[in-house]
Amino acid sequence: MKIGIYPGSFDPITLGHLDIIIRASKLVDRLVIGVLTNISKKTLFSVDERVQFINRVIKENNLDSRVKVEAFDGLLVDFAKVQKASFIVRGLRAITDFDYELQLAQTNHVMVPEIDTIFFTTRLEYSYLSSSTVREIASFGGDITQFVPECIVQSVYDKYNEIGSV
Ligand code: PNS
Repeated sequence: MKIGIYPGSFDPITLGHLDIIIRASKLVDRLVIGVLTNISKKTLFSVDERVQFINRVIKENNLDSRVKVEAFDGLLVDFAKVQKASFIVRGLRAITDFDYELQLAQTNHVMVPEIDTIFFTTRLEYSYLSSSTVREIASFGGDITQFVPECIVQSVYDKYNEIGSV
């Protein structure tokens, strides 16, 4: 069974992430989306919220037979080993992503040579898109419907209503 890991913060999941999930899931028997529980990186959404959003999106897109979501902490390669994954999936939006992504992939490969990283170039229409842009727009009450899956739009606004930034 071919298993891939798609790791990230997903704070929150965007249409760019969803595009990579759909394309990567066609290459594997199982794609595990690894949501980083990183207490040192301040996220807007809790890990439970981020996992819940992704589960909702997977269900809406009928991907739940081949895609699952897990929270993880610690090293990505350790999580990949536990999941018995043979490769890690990452998206590349622009040249600005390249340095960081190359460093991550090379370091992970040195630590565990059996696990390779596969890069998907982001679709052009999402090449500018990031979770931080979505958060910024939503924090000012702007329209995020073109940027995140429809089933989580309201939850993103709700968060800002809850914390009082809109
Ligand atoms: O969506 P992001 O924030 O760009 O994802 C970054 C992520 C989760 C892939 C990266 O921070 C990660 O793998 N963190 C886990 C710790 C780790 O293994 N670091 C790599 C050693 S250099």
